Amino acid sequence: TAKPFQPRIERRTDPVSEADRDAILNAPGFGQHFTDHMFLAEWTPEAGWHDERIVPYGPLALDPATAALHYAQEIFEGLKAYRHENGSVWVFRPEQNAARFQRSAARMMLPELPIDWFIESIDALLSVDGAWVPGGGEKALYLRPFMFGSESFLGVRSARKATYAVIASPVGGYFDAGVKPVSLWLAENYTRASAGGTGAAKCGGNYAASLLPLAEAAQHGCEQVVFLDATEHRMVEELGGMNLYFVYDDGQLVTPASDSILDGIIKKSLRDVAADLGYNVTERPIAIEEWTEGVAAGRITEVFACGTAAVITPIGRLVWSGGEVNSAADGQAGPVTATLRRALVDLQYGRAQDTRGWMH
Ligand code: COI
Repeated sequence: TAKPFQPRIERRTDPVSEADRDAILNAPGFGQHFTDHMFLAEWTPEAGWHDERIVPYGPLALDPATAALHYAQEIFEGLKAYRHENGSVWVFRPEQNAARFQRSAARMMLPELPIDWFIESIDALLSVDGAWVPGGGEKALYLRPFMFGSESFLGVRSARKATYAVIASPVGGYFDAGVKPVSLWLAENYTRASAGGTGAAKCGGNYAASLLPLAEAAQHGCEQVVFLDATEHRMVEELGGMNLYFVYDDGQLVTPASDSILDGIIKKSLRDVAADLGYNVTERPIAIEEWTEGVAAGRITEVFACGTAAVITPIGRLVWSGGEVNSAADGQAGPVTATLRRALVDLQYGRAQDTRGWMH
C-alpha cells in the first residue's frame, strides 16, 4: 500500500467514567453501547483516502442529499476483539473481513480500502479504546467498520465521495436467551437475494429487506427467518444475518452452497475447525425438503446458525405455513454443535492453540 494510515487522534475530554464503563461491560447486551471514540476517513477520486482520524464518538453531520441516504450505497463488516486470560486483546481473522469489505465495495461501486488500512484502522481504534474490551464469559468488543457514499448528489451514479468509519460496541450474546435453540420461520413469500443480486455483498439493504419477513416470523412466534433461493423457492440460503449448518447422522456436516448468500467468515472457518475434530464438511445446495424430511426421519440430527454475532447458535423449531419440525426438541445444543462451539470459542479466547495464525 502507498502509505500507512496515520490517524490524527482527538481524544474525548469527557470519557465515560470507569464506574459507568464497568457497569456497561458487566451487562453489555448487543449493539446498545459504544466506546468513547470512532475512526473516520474520507475518499475522493482525486485525493484517494485521506483525513484519517480518531475522534470522540458522536453524531455525523450529513447533508440531507447524502447519496447513501437515498440509494443505499453502503457496506459494513462485523468482527470481534476478545480479551484473553492474560489481559491481551485479539481480533479473529481481520484480513478476512478486510478482503470481504473489498468485495462488497466492488459490488456496490464504493472505493477499495487497502487490507492493511482496514486492519490498521481497527488496531488504532483498539489502541485508544482497548479498555472497552470486556473480559470473561463470552463477551467481546464488536467492531463495526462501514463505508457509505457521502457525496451530496441525487443523480443515480456511484458517489464521488465516500466515508469510512469504525465504531465499536461491547457485546454479550446476540440472542437474549443465550445459547438456547432459536426458532425459525420459513419465508415462503419473500426472498433475501437473487442470482446476480447483492446477496453476497455485506450491504445494509440486504438487512433492511429481511425486516418484513422477520416481523412475519415474530407473528408466528419465531425468532429468526430462513430464506430460500429466489428462482425455485426451494434451495436453502441463510437466515437474515447468519449462515446455516446441518449435522447428519453419519457425521457429515453440510452448509448451503449459493452465490447469493453471505460468504461468512465463521462459516468458512468452521470447515477447518470441524476437520480438526474429524468431521467432514461439504458445501452443496440443500433443498428445503431435505431439511424438513431429514429432521423428521432423524437423518439430520442437529442444525445450527453461525456468524460473528451469533457465534454458533443451535436451531430448534423450523416452522412453515404447513407444519414444523424440531431439531433440538430437548431444548439443548446437540453434541456436535456444542463441540464445534467450544472449539471455536476456545480459540477466540486464547484457551486453545492458534495453529493457523487466525488471531491478530
Ligand atoms: C455479524 O454476525 O457480525 C453480522 O453482521 C450479523 C448481524 C445480525 C449483526
